[in-house]
Amino acid sequence: MTDKAEISQISRYKKIISISRDLASTLDLDILLKRIVQAAAELTGAEAASILLYDERLERLYFQVASQFDGPLLRGLDVPVESSIAGWIVKNRQPMIIHDTKQDERHYQQVGQSLGITTKSLLGVPLIAKDKVSGVLEAINKRNGKFSSDDQEALMTLGVQAAVAIENSRLFQQFDLISEFVHELRTPLASLRTATHLLTHPEITDDKREQLAKNIQRERVRLAEMSTDFLNVARLESGRSQFQIDAFDLNVLLNECFQLIIDQAEESGLFCNIEIPDELPMIKGDCDKIKQAVLNLLSNAIKYTLAGGRVLLKAEAAPDEIHISISDTGVGIPQKYLDRLFSKFFRVPGSERMSQGTGLGLSIVKRIIEGHGGHIEVESEVDVGTTFTIHLLITP
Ligand SMILES: Nc1ncnc2c1ncn2[C@@H]1O[C@H](COP(=O)(O)OP(=O)(O)OP(=O)(O)O)[C@@H](O)[C@H]1O
Ligand SMILES: [Mg+2]
Repeated sequence: MTDKAEISQISRYKKIISISRDLASTLDLDILLKRIVQAAAELTGAEAASILLYDERLERLYFQVASQFDGPLLRGLDVPVESSIAGWIVKNRQPMIIHDTKQDERHYQQVGQSLGITTKSLLGVPLIAKDKVSGVLEAINKRNGKFSSDDQEALMTLGVQAAVAIENSRLFQQFDLISEFVHELRTPLASLRTATHLLTHPEITDDKREQLAKNIQRERVRLAEMSTDFLNVARLESGRSQFQIDAFDLNVLLNECFQLIIDQAEESGLFCNIEIPDELPMIKGDCDKIKQAVLNLLSNAIKYTLAGGRVLLKAEAAPDEIHISISDTGVGIPQKYLDRLFSKFFRVPGSERMSQGTGLGLSIVKRIIEGHGGHIEVESEVDVGTTFTIHLLITP
């Protein structure tokens, strides 16, 4: 190795050490993955980099993040394990350099096409931690010259650090979520224990017995709902929940949501309206997940609005975005809580008096919308009402 090459290699290792420190400083998987792809592109002098995660149980390999084109099209895009370069890297646990992707039919051209980029050259390494392959780190299109064995070595070293960081983050998230879950289970379990204990008393009246049976039923429903929400959050956070991206008609979807909640809203004494233009541009996204997000927001609007109030579901098309808003004339949210609203388990103090809940709904909504490359905003005034607005990009 020449002196010059040696110096550049040393400065690369310095960079890797500083990146590793940086990786160790966060347990947020999304942030972590973004940092890793940025570092990978920088270290290897590539135009872009991406991470594919591998689900061993389902034998699925899918795009999770890329340094440049992280949008709804990319996330969750499946790559065939048997016939792709990334699949080969996972199966063989070895790095691979391809100087000209056109020459190699293992390259999954469809991915490049759906991303709107041309993959010319590629360097991929396996992400291995504790002897388990968790994915593939790819550097795409070397800016000058060809990917070298030094690039490969640098990316391998980064890959090892990245795999450990990804694994730690997943373990931490699981632990965090499980402890919260166990904590949240206590309240309904305590109610169930009291109710079942009282039921064994022979002297209780029929009325009381009926009341207790209703309590048990209510807590049972709550436990089931909580379990579903927890699973949803866990899947979204770990990156295992993938979006099934298709073009769909938002008009139809919003009308379905409206029909699903109208009875419950009217039973609670609320007036509901829907205002949607007949012609909305088609949207590309996971329609089940978007539906779940809209239903969560509508369910909140109903829960936190007193009888006699109004709920409005509205959609509008802007030049490159669609805005879906859910407004209510409910109790509102004090300004000081707005920035914590989307955190897991957060509930405005006093909410339990209005309705039961775990405080997971809005964190699920935010994950879904941001996973589609969109964002969500909230405006609220105490005793006046609240409006949540979803912004979704219109993709050509
Ligand atoms: N439309 C609204 N009006 C007033 N407060 C709201 C509204 N939507 C949400 N909030 C407040 O934000 C908190 C978090 O909402 P989120 O949907 O995450 O949880 P939740 O409704 O309490 O429980 P769940 O997990 O069942 O959805 C709620 O507890 C409530 O205090
Ligand atoms: Mg909710």
